[in-house]
Amino acid sequence: MVDSVRFRLRTSCCISVSLAIRLQLLLSVSWEDWWTYEGISGPAFWGLINPEWSMCNRGRRQSPINIEPSQLLFDPNLRPLHIDKNAVAGYLSNMGQGLIFTVDNSSKPSINLTGGPLSYKYEWHQMALHFGLNNQSGSEHMIAGRAFPAELQVFGFNTQLYSTYSEALESPHGIVALSVLIQIGDASLQTTEFRLLMEHITKIERPGLLQPGQERPMPALSLKMLLPPTDYYITYEGSATTPACQETSTWIVFNRPLYITEQQLYALRGLKRGSPNPNHNQIKSSSFSSPSLSVTGDPMGNNYRPIQPTHHRPVRTNIDFTSSERGEKACATMHRDMHYRGEFSFEIAKTFFAVFFSSRTHSVHK
Ligand SMILES: *[C@@H]1O[C@H](CO)[C@@H](O)[C@H](O)[C@H]1NC(C)=O
Ligand SMILES: *[C@@H]1O[C@H](CO)[C@@H](O)[C@H](O)[C@H]1NC(C)=O
Ligand SMILES: *[C@@H]1O[C@H](CO)[C@@H](O)[C@H](O)[C@H]1NC(C)=O
Repeated sequence: MVDSVRFRLRTSCCISVSLAIRLQLLLSVSWEDWWTYEGISGPAFWGLINPEWSMCNRGRRQSPINIEPSQLLFDPNLRPLHIDKNAVAGYLSNMGQGLIFTVDNSSKPSINLTGGPLSYKYEWHQMALHFGLNNQSGSEHMIAGRAFPAELQVFGFNTQLYSTYSEALESPHGIVALSVLIQIGDASLQTTEFRLLMEHITKIERPGLLQPGQERPMPALSLKMLLPPTDYYITYEGSATTPACQETSTWIVFNRPLYITEQQLYALRGLKRGSPNPNHNQIKSSSFSSPSLSVTGDPMGNNYRPIQPTHHRPVRTNIDFTSSERGEKACATMHRDMHYRGEFSFEIAKTFFAVFFSSRTHSVHK
């Protein structure tokens, strides 16, 4: 009996999906290119809405993931990541499902990312902000099963192999994706560039919040000064967290958070979501094309994709937990081996969080 109820539920769900899709086709909007974070256009359906997005459901190297401190592999060959210090111009846009900062590619010199786990040179292209409607969720990546109120993601593309971001997105080793988890904290803990970014997003006379489809230029932003100062990170091979979920991203998750104030988070939560404007046929697969949106009354927050299975992918780090546990400086020759630290799982989780939250006691860029 339970089975038949389940069966009926499933059939009625399918019917309503196909009905909705047919209704949308009637409106002659390119709805197969439209996706959201809930309901029948939400993450569980991305791979079904559009055949070009099938990796969203079939892929086995997807992002985001839950980072289990006990499963981390220490790899002493991981160097610090290098990011150019200069500032570039760009523009902020409300893409309907989220906030995006896109670098103006005529702004030179471009900002390059090298080193760390990367074999190639990558050029900074874009940045996205994910946030929740309550303090317990918002980030895409989790640490030890814990979500953070927000996450900043920074994307660059491999300029040694590819000539555009969109080409790289479809190609092996195409994308580097930095993830910085965001905690609620005092403004004094913020990097000045992060404060600047927040002001750009949220200031403005009411109702001046960035509306869906709007763009706002930013004359200068230094990525290096925006990010928390740290040489430590966790890295794994994964995917785009929005359709088409291409598995071409090397993820680098910083071991230190950025801080957002309660007021800034509150302002973000006031941002409204957009949906495709029925008069246009322009909405494209991802956050990377120009929007033609109309405002809906719904809040934009909770724009995060749920955790994806790791499927035994290695998740490496250059944080040497053994030496920090002993409170000693790492002895290079003693830690050359890459090794699992599963046996210390509890201790490592504690240490990881100690490292993660140690930025409270460190100064930030002024
Ligand atoms: C980044 O690399 C490009 C070549 O790919 C170069 O033209 C540019 O000057 C570099 N940026 C910096 C800040 O060195
Ligand atoms: C969490 O969110 C609420 C508002 O939704 C706020 O009043 C509360 O102080 C927040 N603070 C923290 C640190 O979780
Ligand atoms: C630079 O940006 C413009 C406008 O966004 C785009 O049309 C062009 O293809 C970009 N050039 C490269 C090399 O990515």
